[in-house]
Amino acid sequence: MKKRLLTGLQSSGTLHIGNYFGALKPFVDNYRNYDSLLMVADLHSLTTVRDATLLRQNIIDVVKDYIAVGVDPNEAIIFKQSDVPEHTELAWVFECLVTVPFLMQGHAYKDKVAKGIEATAGLFNYPMLMAADILLYDAEVVPVGEDQRQHIEYAREAANKFNLAYGETFLPPQELILKGVGIVPGTDGEKMSKSYKNIIPLFGTKAEIEKAVMGIVTDSSGERPENVYAIHRILKSEDELAPLYEEHKGKYKNLKDALAADLDAFITPMREKRASITDADVKAILADGAARARECALAKMQNVREIIGISL
Ligand code: ADP
Ligand code: TRP
Repeated sequence: MKKRLLTGLQSSGTLHIGNYFGALKPFVDNYRNYDSLLMVADLHSLTTVRDATLLRQNIIDVVKDYIAVGVDPNEAIIFKQSDVPEHTELAWVFECLVTVPFLMQGHAYKDKVAKGIEATAGLFNYPMLMAADILLYDAEVVPVGEDQRQHIEYAREAANKFNLAYGETFLPPQELILKGVGIVPGTDGEKMSKSYKNIIPLFGTKAEIEKAVMGIVTDSSGERPENVYAIHRILKSEDELAPLYEEHKGKYKNLKDALAADLDAFITPMREKRASITDADVKAILADGAARARECALAKMQNVREIIGISL
């Protein structure tokens, strides 16, 4: 039996290069070695999206992005969270086990509230829904970006709390974080995020990429534009970049042009693949994924219902 691997991205907006290098690349590089699931976290995205038309579009777009970056729906289960109601059911069980002070230590929660996102109960409980996403499938490996490290710790803690209260039921999951990626900065120098309007879109047109790159905030005090370099560094090695940054020292416009060209070259093949995927393809993939995911989730949840004493 292969171990299980699962990750998810929120359907909260256009995917960006931070999502790619943080979560999608480690998924694509590893998913064939595991029994893999790739989820659209549409319930999580309700913490920021309150427009039904937009949410529907985001869900379709994220699935197209999954396929365009190289995930084969025959080799991984691609599904959306809301199609498997056991996620919210299990999240509730965990919410009855973890404490408010424990959840209050959440970095993501604090960062989002500091950025002006409303401090709803959903945003606060977000880590327990994520724990349910993972533990419901006994996923042991979870490819995520650096900013999600604590959320995987929360999932381990939910598993521990449950196992202590009811006996060994859940496996402790482990994050899979690509070395050298860290937190990809957005055009404003903060974490690049779909909800912060500071992204370089993963499937942007050449013009969109150029516009985003030209908007990167540069600090003229240093030797080189650090926010430009930090993104460039993910695409190319230090050795490849050193002569370029030496040659164009102080000429930020030239360095931005070089970054935009490198990003465009990297994105073009994926953009072309994406254009060939239709909405009907996406709906068929999600229908099939929902049935396959639900089968696993239901078996686990029936077991949990018995263990906690709600199935008679
Ligand atoms: P966002 O913050 O853009 O809404 P999500 O919260 O949906 O993105 O994150 C999806 C995945 O992408 C997660 O694994 C997350 O760690 C990763 N990710 C998001 N932003 C970045 C970033 N700036 N750098 C690295 N990884 C990131
Ligand atoms: N919280 C993750 C993020 O914002 C998205 C997510 C939801 C997720 N459920 C998950 C990631 C389960 C991995 C596993 O990035």
